[in-house]
This record gives sequence, structure tokens and C-alpha cells, in this order.
Amino acid sequence: SQSSFKAADLQIEFCTPDQLKKKPSVSDLVFGKHFTDHMLEIHWDATSGWGQPRITPFHDLRMHPAAKVLHYSVELFEGMKAFRGIDDEIRLFRPDKNMERMNRTAARSSLPTFEGTELIEVLKKLVSIDQEWVPHAESSSLYLRPTLIGTEPTLGVQQPKEALLFIIMSPVGPYFSSGFKPVSLLADPQFVRAWPGGCGMMKMGSNYGPTLAIQKVAENKGLQQVLWLFGPDHRITEVGAMNLMVFLDKGNGEKELVTPPLDGLILPGVTRDSLLGLAREWNEFTVSERDITMAEIISAEQQGKLLEIFGAGTAAVVTPVGEIHYGDKIIKIPTMDHEKPLNQKFFKTITDIQYGRVQHSWSIPI
Ligand code: COI
Repeated sequence: SQSSFKAADLQIEFCTPDQLKKKPSVSDLVFGKHFTDHMLEIHWDATSGWGQPRITPFHDLRMHPAAKVLHYSVELFEGMKAFRGIDDEIRLFRPDKNMERMNRTAARSSLPTFEGTELIEVLKKLVSIDQEWVPHAESSSLYLRPTLIGTEPTLGVQQPKEALLFIIMSPVGPYFSSGFKPVSLLADPQFVRAWPGGCGMMKMGSNYGPTLAIQKVAENKGLQQVLWLFGPDHRITEVGAMNLMVFLDKGNGEKELVTPPLDGLILPGVTRDSLLGLAREWNEFTVSERDITMAEIISAEQQGKLLEIFGAGTAAVVTPVGEIHYGDKIIKIPTMDHEKPLNQKFFKTITDIQYGRVQHSWSIPI
């Protein structure tokens, strides 16, 4: 059986002219609502292994109603983007990191693994076929959604013997409908997203579906997102659509950037890793992957030492946080009230790399 599909085996069926869709204008982009003309599919089964990658016109999936994904959430996904640079070149951002995480999640999900370099090759081809869908506008990009599902049509709670990997692509603007304005978070310790020994560090659909009802609780309070806490000391973990970073004044001129460690509860974000890498390179403040509790955040805020809180994610890029609602407290964070906010420096540096204003090894031309 084939332990990986091969990009060299790629088959392509192009859309006929009447199948080509009208592209939305940049101002009409809603995250993940519009999809490009083509998609990629690769079937796997336990006997023959991976089949040939196929690019075809975008279409609905057909599957047996007993497919394991529909019953037991045997599913994973990735979030990536293709950017149109200022030189009109299209680039991916650190796709190798997504491939590593996708394979780690596949192993944990009882789904088949593959060679990441082979998927990057077919992904580049898919993006180049639909290249006119990569928005000609900054702050927009083409969001790529690699997905892997268990399709075996049997109800036994067992590892699937059939699977489907597919990639769909969607032109997107900012993830939050508020644009890049500061977001407000609900931090309610009665709700838990992930736990030790669980799958919080995996990019599985089953980590996201159960959070939507709590997201609604936040929205009903006029807040955008949930900040997931963990443990009796109410450690902050992550936001679900993004990792979280806290910038603290340590006194005597020292500053510290804190983000929770990759202890199994936290999604190991590519943007998270990139910001940590940049910060360590700059060497202007302490960079800590350590636990941080709500008590520490409140105490820092009371002493005027809480400088900024912001999220980091592929969809969210770098999103400032303005408020956290925690029990009967509303913690106001002066994230944007500085002369040169760190989150804006991160945003500029990362988007300079993504849109080709700065050449960097993280940006991979298609
Ligand atoms: C991403 O940032 O790509 C994500 O996957 C977050 C969310 C849209 C699920």
C-alpha cells in the first residue's frame, strides 16, 4: 500500500467556462463564505493506501450516511493562507508547519499520514490554477482549508479503513467582522475547552463544535470570543480562533511577553510560533512560554503593568484585545493606547513577510 500520495500522480480536470464562478468583490468578503472554482481530493483506504491526487471543479461531496466522520467526528483540518504580494507573486506562509501539525493530528485521529512536501506541491498547483481568486488587495488573502475525514461506511467505533483528504479555498478579509479593531473576550471558568491527556493541541473539528454554544453566550453579552480558562487558578489557555499573548511591564524598564506553554491544552499555532521567533530575534524584552492566571492579569492591570493583550492566528493574524469580562469584573486592557504598540509591530512585520514587502524564508512562492 502507498504510504503517501505523490504530487507527480496529480490528475487535473479543469472547469468548463460555464462552471467558472463570479468572484466576490473585496468589500463583500465574509470569512469562509465564497469558494474558488476548483478543489483537491485524495482518497485513502487501508488496503491500497493513498490514491492519486485529483483537482476537479468545486463540487459537493457524496458519502454514505454511516461514514464515520458523520457519527464520531473522525475529522481534522488546517488553516493556511496564500497571499498576493506587492510584486504580484503569490506566496504561502510556512506551509511545512501546517503539514507537520496535520500529520500529528492525523496520527491522533486514526487517520492516515502522508508526506507533507507532496501535499504542498499539489496545493501550490491548486492555488496556481485558481490564482485569480487570490485577492488583489492587502488585508485580504486566499484562505486554504485542508481537511481529512474518515469515510468508511460502518458504525463500529473503530479506526476508519477509508478516508478522504480534500482542500477547499476561500478568499477572505479580516476574520472578525469588526475588522482589526480590538475584540472583547468572555472568560468564564465554568466552561473548559481542553484538559490534560486530551486533544487540545490537535486541530480536530471536535475541538471546535462544542465551543459554539459558549461563543453564543459571549455574543449575547455583546462580546466577540471566548477566552478559555483552565484549572482552579484560572490559567488562561487560548481563544479557539487564536492563541493569546500578554505583554507586561516588569518594572525597572523590563518588559515580558507571555504566552501559555504548549502543555497539551494549547493549539500550537503557526502565527504564535512566528511571533515568538521574531521576538526572540529582536531580543528587546523577555519572551516567556509560561502559565499566566487571571489573578496575575488583574494584579498587573491594577498596578498599571498590563500593557497589551492580543491574539495570534492564521485567520486572526494579530488581533488586539480590548476587554476581558470575568465574573463581575471588566478588565480594560490598554492594548492600543501606546505610542508604538507591540501588537502593531508584530502585525506589520508578519504582513510585510506575507505580502512580500520583506523577503523571508517563511514565505514560499507557489
Ligand atoms: C485559523 O486561524 O486558520 C483557524 O483555524 C482558526 C479558526 C478559523 C478555526
